[in-house]
Amino acid sequence: MMLQDKFGRDIHDLRISVTDRCNFSCVYCKSADPKNYFPHRDLLTWDEFLRVARVLADLGIRKVRVTGGEPLLRDGILDFMACLHRIPTLEDIAITTNGYLLPEMAKDLAATGPLRVTVSLDSTDPAKFARITRTPRSFEKVMAGVDAALAAGLKPVKVNIVLVRGFNEDEIVDFARLARRRDLVVRFIEFMPLDADHAWNRDLVVTAKEIVKTINPVFPLVEIPRRSPSETALRYKFADGQGELGIIAPVSIPFCGQCSRLRLTADGKIRTCLFSLREHDVRHLVRNGATDLDLAQFFTRVVHLKEPGHRINETDFVQPKRTMVYIGG
Ligand code: GTP
Ligand code: 5AD
Ligand code: SF4
Repeated sequence: MMLQDKFGRDIHDLRISVTDRCNFSCVYCKSADPKNYFPHRDLLTWDEFLRVARVLADLGIRKVRVTGGEPLLRDGILDFMACLHRIPTLEDIAITTNGYLLPEMAKDLAATGPLRVTVSLDSTDPAKFARITRTPRSFEKVMAGVDAALAAGLKPVKVNIVLVRGFNEDEIVDFARLARRRDLVVRFIEFMPLDADHAWNRDLVVTAKEIVKTINPVFPLVEIPRRSPSETALRYKFADGQGELGIIAPVSIPFCGQCSRLRLTADGKIRTCLFSLREHDVRHLVRNGATDLDLAQFFTRVVHLKEPGHRINETDFVQPKRTMVYIGG
């Protein structure tokens, strides 16, 4: 079985946001405010997430990425990861986390099965990072988390940096240095209009071209092939040796034509695109007696409605109501 949309794209990649809660209070993100949290009863249970994942795996989903909010925060996450590993047709299981709980949890996570970990880290400066996350010693904890993940054998560990002009683009070379010194894949992400404050504008985007131009004179880069056509990142190695960099450039070099992704939000909505203005309620189905066949038919229909791509570069672009944290990276 294979899910295919009406543009002929194979859909084999599912991202599940397991919670909208987070233990950081990042200045640009409204998730920190408990008055915005979904009530608990609106969040899918672990069994409901698993049921959706199983039905979608039967339809050809091969890769699952678990995100949030902060996924390590939800009780039962370790059992859930272990259950995902028991779905035989899943080939790749990954988690995106802020890393704060990894020092305590990396070993147990690794024990659930092979897992790739991506950690978000927007500054290399501890004081600045503490200010952004509004959490003391957050940089030290996250770096300890990265070490713990590597020590537990969770490889590769990727570090994601959203670049915002005037805020952290002066750290591009420092991040490149981190990729050379440590066994990490460091990936820069162009800022997208998914921010709570609607402060995004084109001038704030640090483009792929600019990133390469900044790093090249210091550490010459060599582009390397993508692992798969639907991979989000352009990949680079350093001309003189160890280390890998990635650049995710949805704004300046859109990759929607090769998109393989479907998203499930913590409150049980399917989103066919990060920028969907319409979502599809799977929670209602699973809580009202839908059979697996009903669900499979629903997913097949929904995938057919997948948008051709984001419209960030169009003049009539409309930002979705959900911010990144309520969509799940
Ligand atoms: P790998 O599985 O290791 O290839 O990672 P990934 O790039 O699929 O996942 P990750 O969660 O690390 O994604 C990194 C960032 O890329 C996200 O936080 C988003 O900013 C951006 N991104 C991921 N998927 C999409 C997408 O489908 N569309 C757009 N526009 N951006 C995306
Ligand atoms: N644009 C691009 N990426 C974003 N992320 C959060 N907000 C944005 C945005 N506006 C990234 C985080 C994290 C992932 C969950 O989403 O840095 O890596
Ligand atoms: Fe896919 Fe939408 Fe992302 Fe484009 S913006 S790559 S269509 S999820």
